[in-house]
Amino acid sequence: MIYRYSGHSGIQLPVLSLGLWHNFGSVDDFSVATQMVTRAFDAGICHFDLANNYGPVPGSAESNFGRIMKNELASHRDEMFIASKAGHDMWPGVYGDGSSRKNLIASCNQSLKRTGLEYFDVFYSHRYDGVTPVEETMQALIDIVRQGKALYAGISKYPPHLQQKCYDILKAAKVPCLLSQYRCSMFDHKAMNENFEVATLNGSGVICFSPLAQGLLTGKYDNGIPEGSRAARSTGFLQTSQVTPERVEAVKKLAQIAKERGQSIAQMALAWILADNRVTSCIIGTSSVAQLENNLATIDNLQFSDDEMDRINEILRDPVLQFD
Ligand SMILES: NC(=O)c1ccc[n+]([C@@H]2O[C@H](COP(=O)([O-])OP(=O)(O)OC[C@H]3O[C@@H](n4cnc5c(N)ncnc54)[C@H](OP(=O)(O)O)[C@@H]3O)[C@@H](O)[C@H]2O)c1
Repeated sequence: MIYRYSGHSGIQLPVLSLGLWHNFGSVDDFSVATQMVTRAFDAGICHFDLANNYGPVPGSAESNFGRIMKNELASHRDEMFIASKAGHDMWPGVYGDGSSRKNLIASCNQSLKRTGLEYFDVFYSHRYDGVTPVEETMQALIDIVRQGKALYAGISKYPPHLQQKCYDILKAAKVPCLLSQYRCSMFDHKAMNENFEVATLNGSGVICFSPLAQGLLTGKYDNGIPEGSRAARSTGFLQTSQVTPERVEAVKKLAQIAKERGQSIAQMALAWILADNRVTSCIIGTSSVAQLENNLATIDNLQFSDDEMDRINEILRDPVLQFD
């Protein structure tokens, strides 16, 4: 594995981290989930990304991760960097959602219970909810860190006009923002253009989620929607309407360049993000150990020639490929 420092901190993270949003819930096969976590750890992926609501059912990915920790990895806790978050729908009704102090602190306590951990390495505000003052949410993160429930604070998906304010509040409290989490892939350049620079200037690491556009950038949708894929599953977040003919065509063209590089399209898509040296890590999702193995081999070739970059960026220039 290759490790990079997260912003201006002493924390090194693997360039590939494992996320438990899909495939680790109570609807999924626990033995496959166990194999993916243990194989990832053995390969040097020591960073695992959770959130209160991951499942389905919400909370079950944390419970399952807690079981895997207890059964397989308990003695390795200090070699692991474990994240959780609060801010999205946990249950319907009041205090089940949003970025209030009430929700963040109660949710962090619940997440610790579900995982059986004594502390998280980083705890994030999962999103700006459009209502709660940023001061309230950041103070909750500061207090979570000061109470020892997390070692570091992070923000996820904060829009550019609020990002600087978050960094300023956290910095003033001497709880600097370790990580800023944004969606980013070959089909999703928005955060690269709008958020990465301000994060870097403020000493925050940048960590990218959905780096394969939820599987679109793997070639699996080249001939339609395969059974069992995320787009086919009722619990999957990727919508069939997002699997557009233009994106599928672009993936085929990109796959040709990947082939010339001796890589799979998934490996090239991950390497392309990591070519941006502002990025600390990509959080991948996998539904099998075979996918994990494929993605792990990304680190065998992270270099691009100017010509390869030009050809790739020429394909990606078409705005219809980009997610909103
Ligand atoms: N902060 C936030 O708001 C936020 C939001 C979303 C995600 N995240 C984090 O980011 C993590 C990753 O997101 P993501 O799961 O969308 O990432 P992703 O890597 O873009 O997509 C993962 C999916 O792509 C498919 N796949 C992966 N590798 C493959 C391969 N080599 N060959 C074929 N198919 C492959 C699998 O889907 P199939 O099921 O089709 O096999 C897999 O579940 C999440 O788990 C979560 O931790 C954070």
